[in-house]
Amino acid sequence: MKEKIKSLLKKRKAIMLAHNYQPPEIQDIADLCGDSLELSIKASMTDAEVILFCGVTFMAETASVLSPEKRVLLPRKDAGCPMADMVTPAQLKLRLAGLPPMPVVTYVNSSVSVKAMSTICCTSANAIEVVNSLEAEEILMVPDRNLAQYTASKTNKKIHLWDGYCPFHDSLTPEDVEKAKKMHPDALFMAHPECRPEILELADAIASTSGMIRYASESDSLSFIVGTEIGMLYPLKKANPGKEFYPASKNMLCNDMKKISLDDIVRSLETMEGEVKVPENIRQPALKAVQRMIDLSTSS
Ligand code: 13P
Ligand code: SF4
Repeated sequence: MKEKIKSLLKKRKAIMLAHNYQPPEIQDIADLCGDSLELSIKASMTDAEVILFCGVTFMAETASVLSPEKRVLLPRKDAGCPMADMVTPAQLKLRLAGLPPMPVVTYVNSSVSVKAMSTICCTSANAIEVVNSLEAEEILMVPDRNLAQYTASKTNKKIHLWDGYCPFHDSLTPEDVEKAKKMHPDALFMAHPECRPEILELADAIASTSGMIRYASESDSLSFIVGTEIGMLYPLKKANPGKEFYPASKNMLCNDMKKISLDDIVRSLETMEGEVKVPENIRQPALKAVQRMIDLSTSS
């Protein structure tokens, strides 16, 4: 199966990108695994003709926004992100009508139509940098209230929150973390900024998914409790075979990130099924917001 995928990728002149939460067998054959920011940057720079995106809809949409001349395939079109569905263009318009004029910083975990209404995008890896790059003193951040609260705690700006969240990260409780810490007293605790503020207070490190890999690699510690989606245990262990990684909670499992199978990938590459194409009238304004973020992250 893996050989078949490799030869199909070659035939289609395709690059295969996979998010860090994807199943191990997918990560093992991808050309690049990474967090949302790394995957966006790669999608903006590749000269492949086809981008096979193993992740969820908003990631494939972002790739299509950045590379309209390429064909972007999401092998399972139904792989979404519940947090991205927590803000619609109509809801955002209504909220903005009730606020004084201010920039909108939109987490990439959002639909492309919401990005199209935004000043700039951000990911978990660059949210603080993005907010600090704006001159305005008041900013609306959508849709993740936890990422927005974390960012607010690191800047002097007034951040207006949107009441969205990741159901899996938001469900992690301080009791879960305390229990894991009791079982692994020597382990450091890494948390994703999508976790609640009371969880982040308990963390030794707060980082994006790839930020966690870097932190664990650079740390002298030999064991870590991982406060993010449990798919992350695989790339952490792969990059650090001599270290131990324990889930903060086994319930942090994102079903959408596990939908794509090797069969789906073969089918998609054979038939070009699952193509994601953003209409030009939405792509243009969304590109401004995404490109502004990428320019910031690649210049620093
Ligand atoms: P990262 O950008 O940190 O990889 O996070 C993406 C995501 O969906 C987290 O739930
Ligand atoms: Fe969305 Fe949460 Fe899944 Fe990430 S883990 S894709 S934020 S539902």
